[in-house]
Amino acid sequence: MTTISTTQSTESVWAATTDMPRCPELRENLEADVCIVGAGIAGLTTGYLLTQAGKSVVILDDGPLASGMTEVTTAHLSNVIDDRFIEIECCHGERGSFLAAESHTAAINRIEATVEELNIDCDFTRLDGYLFLAPGDKKDLLDQELAAARRAGLMAEMVPRCPLEYNTGPAIRFPNQGRFHPLKYLAAVAEAIERGGGRIYTNSHADHVEGGDRAKVDVCDHTVRADAVVVATNSPINDLVAIHTKQAPYMTYVLGARVPAGSVTDALYWDTLTTYYHYVRLQHMSVDDANSNGHDEYDLLIVGGEDHKTGQADDTALRHARLESWARARFPMIEDVEFTWAGQWMKTIDGLAFIGRNPLDAENVFVATGDSGMGMTHGTIAGMLLTDLILGKRNPWATLYDPSRKPVRAAGAFAQENINVAGQYLDWFTPGEVESAREIAPGCGAVLRRGLSKVAVYRDADGRAHEMSAVCPHLGCIVHWNAAEHSWDCPCHGSRFDAKGKVINGPSNVDLEPAD
Ligand SMILES: Cc1cc2nc3c(=O)[nH]c(=O)nc-3n(C[C@H](O)[C@H](O)[C@H](O)COP(=O)(O)OP(=O)(O)OC[C@H]3O[C@@H](n4cnc5c(N)ncnc54)[C@H](O)[C@@H]3O)c2cc1C
Ligand code: FES
Repeated sequence: MTTISTTQSTESVWAATTDMPRCPELRENLEADVCIVGAGIAGLTTGYLLTQAGKSVVILDDGPLASGMTEVTTAHLSNVIDDRFIEIECCHGERGSFLAAESHTAAINRIEATVEELNIDCDFTRLDGYLFLAPGDKKDLLDQELAAARRAGLMAEMVPRCPLEYNTGPAIRFPNQGRFHPLKYLAAVAEAIERGGGRIYTNSHADHVEGGDRAKVDVCDHTVRADAVVVATNSPINDLVAIHTKQAPYMTYVLGARVPAGSVTDALYWDTLTTYYHYVRLQHMSVDDANSNGHDEYDLLIVGGEDHKTGQADDTALRHARLESWARARFPMIEDVEFTWAGQWMKTIDGLAFIGRNPLDAENVFVATGDSGMGMTHGTIAGMLLTDLILGKRNPWATLYDPSRKPVRAAGAFAQENINVAGQYLDWFTPGEVESAREIAPGCGAVLRRGLSKVAVYRDADGRAHEMSAVCPHLGCIVHWNAAEHSWDCPCHGSRFDAKGKVINGPSNVDLEPAD
């Protein structure tokens, strides 16, 4: 049960209801067995399992703990692959599809085991998941998916409808899925890492990662030296093209709406749409009632969807409005919308994450990326798989998730994503969005042309204009203003910068340059 004392928020329900442990900044040179960059679910799970195995770990994050995409997730824990088993079988074969389902099942089991080991109060619950037809989709689609899911080893069944008032029509029921409160879970995992001797530093930006005999990670004037480095920054900051041409960044939108306790059957729900796919779950809530000194208990219906490629749309309010109308049409018991938030996920060309040795790098540099919308389980798989690789143990999923893989059967998706990226370079030749910085209102940003250059201009609330180069330092695409998030988003591989140009999301690991 999650307790809040406020009734409106633009942050995620997880952030609004958790006090994460505070960790110091790195202010000295350190030695460790393993240095992990990134303290989201992937980095912290890896740190926890390595600590359990007796390794000394140093974890670095340039924000507070778990303040990346883990903070804005919806935390469905599922072995039902978002890209559908039919696609996974097509890209990875029947054996690959089986191993994928097996690894996600193991990830949910791993989370459940950690909850028990550490006695974590994080609302972990086992429940059913339902895949139902979107309007216009035919039941054949479900029949084929059910057959592919069964070949992948899942005990799924067709049911006439989801257990909802709204008649969804036929659906596949997948038993034994899960959900939890991700930040409560990771707060306890971080404390366990520290109890086990692990050291965690926040607000410590890793400037440079280098493998070799003794790998090193530079953080401002300090260095962490280790036998191995894991880069778990969601989008790798140590890769220029090898991985980034095989995955694409997408923004996704979420709302949390109050519904009476028990009015919606507690389960995970997903529809069969592809681009505008909807995903739904519940979170039990308790709100402090100042008038009665008591608690008002209810459920928060968490609905996500309305995805688009990062930097290629700026209509957040419209997307949240469409989500709300979709939700109200199906869940008439919705009262107020209490939370709206958004985040970015990485879509890989073959539906599975990239976890293992970093391509074209030293043997002791590892990455975890390409969450494919399933980063809670992929992040947990990363913890298990990378721990085995670092300990020199065989792992049955190593080949499936190998970041160097070349999925020949996903060549179409590879071409489509990279043609889209190539198209973004045309922005170099277009006029500015405004002719002069004077046209930009306080609190807004826009790109303008100055001679051959493109300049990103943000006018702060006091009316002061901040100018920086609009050229993304990763591979030179032109960034776009995101009015809802007050960020500059790169439409090519998903680098994001705050309003004043400070990097907040890789692959770029440096800020936007000052405008010259
Ligand atoms: C709206 C939304 C809904 C989602 N829903 C689900 C879901 O229901 N189920 C599911 O399984 N997945 C879901 N996902 C995906 C999942 O939330 C993410 O894939 C997952 O949280 C990513 O975890 P991570 O540890 O890889 O990355 P992050 O949580 O992003 O952690 C990376 C960390 O690296 C740090 N970092 C970056 N660069 C540096 C640097 N140079 N130096 C130091 N630190 C650095 C960042 O500060 C950050 O804390 C969703 C994602 C979104 C956006
Ligand atoms: S993220 Fe690659 S060019 Fe911007």
